[in-house]
Amino acid sequence: MGGLARRVSYSNLFSEKMKGLPSLLVDGGNYLTDERGYHGEVRPDVAVKDEWILNAYEKYGVDVANLSSHELRYAARLLKTGSEPSSIVRRLVSANIVSESKEFSAPPPFLVRELTLRNGGKLKVAIIGLTEAQPAPPRGFRIEDPAKVAASVAQTAKKTADVVVALARIKQSDARRVAELAPAIDVMLVAGADSVAESFTPPQVAGRTQIYFSSFETRMLGELRFYRQSGGGFGTRARYISLDDVVPDDRAALDFANAAKAAEEQTRSATKDLLEDWLSKSRSDAVKTQTSHGFTGSAACAGCHQGQYVKWSSGPHAHATDRLVQKVFEFEVGCLSCHASNRDPKQMLQSIQGIDCERCHGPGAEHASKPATGYGRIVDVKSNCLSCHTADTSPRFDLQSAMTTVKH
Ligand code: HEC
Ligand code: HEC
Ligand code: HEC
Ligand code: HEC
Repeated sequence: MGGLARRVSYSNLFSEKMKGLPSLLVDGGNYLTDERGYHGEVRPDVAVKDEWILNAYEKYGVDVANLSSHELRYAARLLKTGSEPSSIVRRLVSANIVSESKEFSAPPPFLVRELTLRNGGKLKVAIIGLTEAQPAPPRGFRIEDPAKVAASVAQTAKKTADVVVALARIKQSDARRVAELAPAIDVMLVAGADSVAESFTPPQVAGRTQIYFSSFETRMLGELRFYRQSGGGFGTRARYISLDDVVPDDRAALDFANAAKAAEEQTRSATKDLLEDWLSKSRSDAVKTQTSHGFTGSAACAGCHQGQYVKWSSGPHAHATDRLVQKVFEFEVGCLSCHASNRDPKQMLQSIQGIDCERCHGPGAEHASKPATGYGRIVDVKSNCLSCHTADTSPRFDLQSAMTTVKH
């Protein structure tokens, strides 16, 4: 994505087209793809897609985007502390995503954007982000009950702004309860439609908060207009614009979307090629690198430890690489650290298929040639197993019963 000109101004698509009309372009949440791999990580092609979506938000000047639980798995990598937050990160908002680790910083609870009105006056709009708790956040984050935090955050926001808008990725049925608890919210935009049936839920009023529901369809743009009333307050009117019929495709935007699709496709084929390439080079008998590190290969052990060899061959570890083949688009070099036998962590692509004897017992060439010199036991069996069977990869791992299964 390096070629994309980085925009620093916050002027959005609409303020450019409708000169003089103050506007903000916002997103209520659930705009990234949340498809996960087997262990819950964002797949490489999905990560590329998400990166393009966020770059589009930057290119088209989305002013504020609610960071919801659906975005967090991918966005976590952008929220790492220690680096200057990117321009897209500076547009993210969330009042109830909390960082539990020094490694990450959560976005601010609200952002304030100042608009210049047609009469030259200024209007400050505070935009709060709220999200449901599911899907569960990745390690390092906690999601608090949106209803519990909304009230105090809205009150604080009200002190710094003229209008308080909440972007809420919550269930439609929860909207009223949250709004009633947080009367300082003037307008709540709920992006929680999960079905076509929920697509056109009519607006509601809870106390003095106006609640609008966004459509389920991504090709539907919601427009909310604010009108100043003589008494000092304001009225609102909403409409949905179907981007299919009314608005012709923008050539540049279409090119951008096609480039995104191509990048995603290219990632899938690169992932597939990488796996196939590694598979073709990594059959244990074909790999010679092992000798340089004192390894000899499982076949060499078979002659003297036939029982162990037979038991191992029919167990899960000998076939641990097979699972990667079934998940070709999830493949990353990192998978090999647990699903294959690496001789040199710096040369992961030289790993051998399967988890072989020496992946657990260590280099065995010397022992195999002079068994009398001994080999040595695995001193700390538990940490050997847990180095791969982590809380993330094997949440239900029980050492004792697992040991019984693989005992040889
Ligand atoms: C030439 C025969 C031979 C080969 C090849 C061989 N071993 Fe052994 N291994 C032995 C003998 C003999 C012992 C000692 C048995 C005993 O003391 O009960 C032994 C013991 C072991 C032990 C127990 C260690 C200990 O200190 O008690 C392990 C583990 C082991 N071998 C693993 C391997 C692995 C893994 C390979 C292949 C890399 C291998 N062996 C190759 C003959 C062999
Ligand atoms: C930190 C170690 C580790 C890494 C890295 C890892 N895995 Fe795993 N994986 C495991 C363990 C351990 C299991 C067995 C889990 C269990 O059944 O308790 C497993 C199981 C699996 C399974 C299911 C196997 C079955 O029994 O059906 C798949 C599929 C899988 N992993 C794919 C991947 C892919 C793809 C990657 C790379 C993106 C990956 N893993 C990276 C440790 C790891
Ligand atoms: C997943 C890790 C793992 C793999 C793979 C593995 N082992 Fe073991 N092996 C162990 C553990 C743990 C023990 C018990 C602790 C010890 O004796 O070091 C053990 C014990 C042994 C023993 C001693 C048995 C005894 O009765 O004392 C031998 C011999 C052995 N393994 C050989 C092999 C051979 C040969 C292979 C490959 C065909 C193999 N192991 C693959 C983890 C593994
Ligand atoms: C190099 C990484 C690695 C190490 C070390 C390792 N495992 Fe595994 N283990 C895996 C992977 C990957 C799988 C999934 C293989 C599959 O199902 O295809 C697995 C699967 C298993 C399974 C079957 C799935 C399940 O959870 O029921 C058991 C049992 C198991 N391992 C026990 C152990 C024990 C006990 C140890 C320690 C002696 C150990 N493993 C060490 C990576 C490892």
